[in-house]
Amino acid sequence: MQTQMLIGGDFTDAADGSTMPVEDPATGETIAEVAAGGPADVVTAVARAHVAQSQWAATAPRDRAETLRRVWQLMTDAQEELADLITAENGKPLADARGEVAYAAEFFRWNAEETVRLRGELGVAPSGTNRILVHHPPIGVVAMITPWNFPAAMITRKLAPALGAGNGVVIKPPAQTPLTALRIGELLGDAGVPDGLVNVVPTADSAGWFDTCVDQEPVRMVSFTGSTEVGRVLLRRAADRVLKTVMELGGNAPFIVFDDADLDAAVEGAMLAKMRHSAETCTAANRFYAHRSVATDFAERFAAAMAEVQIGPGADDATTCGPLIDAEAVQRMVTLVEEARDDGARVLTGGGVPDRPGHFFNPTVLGEVGHASSIARTEIFGPVAPVIPFEDTDAVIEMANDTEMGLTGYVYTEDLRRGLAVSERIRAGMIGLNRGLVSDPAAPFGGMKQSGLGREGSTDGIYEFCETQYIATSW
Ligand code: SIN
Repeated sequence: MQTQMLIGGDFTDAADGSTMPVEDPATGETIAEVAAGGPADVVTAVARAHVAQSQWAATAPRDRAETLRRVWQLMTDAQEELADLITAENGKPLADARGEVAYAAEFFRWNAEETVRLRGELGVAPSGTNRILVHHPPIGVVAMITPWNFPAAMITRKLAPALGAGNGVVIKPPAQTPLTALRIGELLGDAGVPDGLVNVVPTADSAGWFDTCVDQEPVRMVSFTGSTEVGRVLLRRAADRVLKTVMELGGNAPFIVFDDADLDAAVEGAMLAKMRHSAETCTAANRFYAHRSVATDFAERFAAAMAEVQIGPGADDATTCGPLIDAEAVQRMVTLVEEARDDGARVLTGGGVPDRPGHFFNPTVLGEVGHASSIARTEIFGPVAPVIPFEDTDAVIEMANDTEMGLTGYVYTEDLRRGLAVSERIRAGMIGLNRGLVSDPAAPFGGMKQSGLGREGSTDGIYEFCETQYIATSW
């Protein structure tokens, strides 16, 4: 297990010798002590990324693409080992962790293909006097701040396109899940990523890390995945140096079940949209709006499916939902359920904390929830699902859009015309129409409103890590 930070191609201790514990959320026990970087480490990491980047940017796109493809291969070969690490530090079931590794690796294969397809433009100026030549050089050094819910995939979704475009990188993995990031750092070296191009600097002081990083001259971009609250703080600070930002922030996804929906499919989709990766995803369905005529039936079937969920340590084969990340997350579920009950919601299944060690909460479905209830207005980020009846299409769209968030939405109906029309009216960057899963490396991931800025994945993702330069030329 790698516990030292990666700077300049070497695994080292923090300059001041600091370490921090990593906990197994299924037991609350410490499983590793990891080097905890401070300002001196961040400064060195940026300097090393800067030097390596200028050489990397000059390499042939095909060579960069081949390197990315080797990372995909090595991650794929190491799927089981990486999945074990993810489960150990994040807690998610092994099946989800294996799925995450495949998803994470795929960003390298996809972006290997995009790296050799970065396009420019050549046009004639309207006046006819000159040509307009446009190309896309890399940005420089990119600071990446990633979350604990996908310890591998939220790194690779940024890292692969950034490298493909020719950038250098300094990563701050989350304090809760640095082990997977450090192992990926090792695999990058094995794949031939040059020393210093990618640096992984865990820290126990996120604010200090970011403050130092932003002020380093070579850093020209910040790519962040995490909460909207933290995103706002980083945006303000990045503004001091007018850094480019890509922000993948929080969600509050509506999941709408119309009266003509196939209820079996809707329940299956609801389980996936809610419970994938132990219900700790920003794409998770947060509020379930079911047409009044099917609301009871849907809620009962959904509750029956949730009652089947096996909570337990992610490493146990029988587990289908692991622990939450920490005790604070469990307390948040307790408070949200209490408040919903006070507002008149009925607990159809779950509703409490099981009597076992670790940070668990029983998978919960709440019926007869009001749209104004605080649980419908909060990003839950855990296994609690409120079901809210609705009367008509306009009313449900108004409720779906009645939020500052706009990451994901889900619609279930057998009428494709209605499904598409409703999807287009939901102000969210990603819609699952008769599907409980939207994430795909080949699709643009990102939000509207306060759910974010920019897109990751698809063909858009690599351009986010590029400048646009225009050369006016006459010949
Ligand atoms: C996230 O929850 O931050 C990402 C979810 C995904 O990529 O599916």
